[in-house]
Amino acid sequence: MADVEELKRKAGIEACKFVKSGMKVGLGTGSTVKHTVVELGRRMADEGLEIVGVPTSLATQKLALEVGIPLVELSEIDGLDIVIDGADEYDPKFQLIKGGGAALLREKIVAQESSAMVVVADDRKRVESLGAFPLPIELTPFSHEATVRSLSRLLDCRVNIRMAGDGPVITDNGNMIADAHTGPSINDPESTETEILLIAGVVQVGLFNNMCDAVVLAGMNGVETVINPNGRLNN
Ligand code: 5RP
Repeated sequence: MADVEELKRKAGIEACKFVKSGMKVGLGTGSTVKHTVVELGRRMADEGLEIVGVPTSLATQKLALEVGIPLVELSEIDGLDIVIDGADEYDPKFQLIKGGGAALLREKIVAQESSAMVVVADDRKRVESLGAFPLPIELTPFSHEATVRSLSRLLDCRVNIRMAGDGPVITDNGNMIADAHTGPSINDPESTETEILLIAGVVQVGLFNNMCDAVVLAGMNGVETVINPNGRLNN
């Protein structure tokens, strides 16, 4: 069986084919898309590729600067040509769970500003129904216990505050992350997203609906690019 890290590297590098000189590129977060960021930096240095990037986390910001990708703020530009990002799960309709790396809020803002979204993944991420991966939800620290209780009632499942050692994980935005253990039962992710966002205290949820246009998927038999037939890259 191919080494998972090697699959991630292959998918991450292959996705760079969507990036052309002059583009404004959203740079995702995670162990797969980090290979994309490194490869884009290499292409800038070796092949004259000219891009600017918007990072989706402080970690990606640091990496992008290390590999020489110039960064801009979303406020300085009028949208992005593309965002390349990882995912924790994707279903047959290209709906995603993201936020395993606690960067979901910035990732969603950047995806929303992008004309296309390409996901890089290994084939463990493909599921029939979302939710085996616990659904990440960003919460305000204020009264987060009450927000967790509301989420648990709504979703009828265990919801845990994500911990790092003795304390809660704190996001780049100063918030907390709750993980909802729904099981693989999120069959209507659009309704689930809407219902979760109605709870005060929820900042954002890691359901990325109707955003993903293609998945660059690495598996034992190689790398394939799966285009969403209802997406913006289908032409
Ligand atoms: C971070 C994310 C990541 O993109 C997602 O967790 C996938 O990461 P990896 O490529 O390391 O499996 O959503 O918030």
